[in-house]
Amino acid sequence: MRLSAERAEEDRHAADVVKRRVTECAEEWFGTGTGPASAVRVRQVDSRPRALLLAVYLGEDPGTPRVIAKVRREPSASSPGQVPRRPVLAAGVPSVSELSAMEYDGLRSLHEMFSDTDPRFGSVRPLDHLQQENVILMEYVQAATLRRRLLAQNRVSSRHPFRAQDSWEPWRRAGAWLRVFQQATPHGERPARQGTREDVLERFDAYGSYLSQRLGTRFADLGTRGSELAAGVLPDRLPMAVAHGDFAPRNVFVGRDDRLTVFDPMPWWVVPAHEDLGRMLVSVRLLGLQVHTHGRAFSRTTVDRVEREVIHGYAGDGPVQVEQLRCYELLVLFDKWSALLDAAERGRSPLRRSSLIRATAYVREQADAVLDLAGAGR
Ligand SMILES: Nc1ncnc2c1ncn2[C@@H]1O[C@H](COP(=O)(O)OP(=O)(O)OP(=O)(O)O)[C@@H](O)[C@H]1O
Ligand SMILES: [Mg+2]
Repeated sequence: MRLSAERAEEDRHAADVVKRRVTECAEEWFGTGTGPASAVRVRQVDSRPRALLLAVYLGEDPGTPRVIAKVRREPSASSPGQVPRRPVLAAGVPSVSELSAMEYDGLRSLHEMFSDTDPRFGSVRPLDHLQQENVILMEYVQAATLRRRLLAQNRVSSRHPFRAQDSWEPWRRAGAWLRVFQQATPHGERPARQGTREDVLERFDAYGSYLSQRLGTRFADLGTRGSELAAGVLPDRLPMAVAHGDFAPRNVFVGRDDRLTVFDPMPWWVVPAHEDLGRMLVSVRLLGLQVHTHGRAFSRTTVDRVEREVIHGYAGDGPVQVEQLRCYELLVLFDKWSALLDAAERGRSPLRRSSLIRATAYVREQADAVLDLAGAGR
């Protein structure tokens, strides 16, 4: 009770700080015509344990926000910083203030990279970083996410109202976006992880043991098959690139003319170049609705097509090391699978534990499908 009162008080304070800052700067950011300063309104759009999202409306257009504020929260006593009880790809998570600063810098560099140069891509305009409060302010983007576009194509639920026409172009662009981002982002001083084949083999062992401990010995072959694949297809040293960090359909806006805007950057690490690509593909295979319905929401043909488009977009006219990519896709899949099991054990999953166990057959099928694709060199 006391905690929720404290949280509510913190939220009010954050909203006040945001309102004050936008009131001060609206003229500078948006020029004239934003209406009287007194008409700045702040509305909470999302509240999670680790972040609060506020929409800011300016005078003359009360219907559409102009600014989005993301307020990162310090871990509280009731949800302390997570000590991973499962294998992870990234050991040592940045602090809340580091995350906030990194996201703001990331948005700034994406804005430089993608504003006005290529009509296929857009960018979120960063407005301000309030260091003391761990708040970033950015311009509101009116567009649906790629996740929402995909959900509109599902076969089982009418909860996702706007029925998009099947369009594959955004998926192709997502791949192309990643290639541009990787080529244009210098590694700088960032720490690297999983830079060698040995590192990847070691992670396959760790995930393999974790999954077979949790799910039973029928799953003991997974780690071994992953390691064999890695040993067979990866070079000693992996080609590396700066990570977007959370390259997934929910972090991509698709605007008019399929203009693609990627947001929510976490460019903390230098990682194997295939990691972000693997994240995008696995996010589709393990989309909540798909896991929940054990694969009924999207047909195999749809998932295959999405993957092909993303990979082709990334490859452009050049070759793509498809076995290496599949190997990494498998590693990311094990990582997300472990995360799902861990969240269910801690009671933090939107899927109940029983439902997750029932979904296990579906996730296992996905692992087998990726292994088959790797074996076939596709
Ligand atoms: N600039 C923006 N304009 C419009 N909507 C936004 C903007 N930034 C974020 N949002 C909305 O808020 C949602 C969450 O934002 P964001 O991805 O930055 O937060 P998050 O805490 O990392 O969420 P997740 O874990 O789902 O990725 C987005 O899916 C989008 O709907
Ligand atoms: Mg996000």
